[in-house]
Amino acid sequence: MLPVGRLEVLDVGCGTGEIGLLFAELGHHVTGRDLSEKMLAKAREKTSKKMYDSTFKKGDAEDPPFEAGTFDVVVSRHLLWTLPHPDTAVKNWKKVLKKEGVLIVIDGLYNGGLIERQGNLLVIS
Ligand SMILES: C[S@@+](CC[C@H](N)C(=O)[O-])C[C@H]1O[C@@H](n2cnc3c(N)ncnc32)[C@H](O)[C@@H]1O
Repeated sequence: MLPVGRLEVLDVGCGTGEIGLLFAELGHHVTGRDLSEKMLAKAREKTSKKMYDSTFKKGDAEDPPFEAGTFDVVVSRHLLWTLPHPDTAVKNWKKVLKKEGVLIVIDGLYNGGLIERQGNLLVIS
């Protein structure tokens, strides 16, 4: 499902880099972005031991400061549901993707899936 060749991958809310590592292991270049300097420090420590091609920078995942069409893959795991503006985040992630790029979002319904609509409001209980 991924584009072919060596990919530019943006791991938003990368944490300690677990997901980015999977891409780095495959030879792709990974940019990790997270608000927590402590998480980033752990991510750098993990990847430096393995000599992976990766960079980790502090910043807000909702609006990554990259040129449009920079990445082949944007990946988000266990982040989107926590963001204050998930719709804006997805719009911005799509913007930094190349034309054939892929957005991967891994999340869950941690409430057991109880979501009801009240007018234009989605209520999660
Ligand atoms: C549950 S962890 C998931 C980490 C990683 N994606 C993984 O799957 O292992 C969520 C991460 O998102 C980061 N985070 C939360 N809100 C963020 C935001 N607005 N911008 C960047 N990072 C954020 C947290 O610091 C934390 O490292």
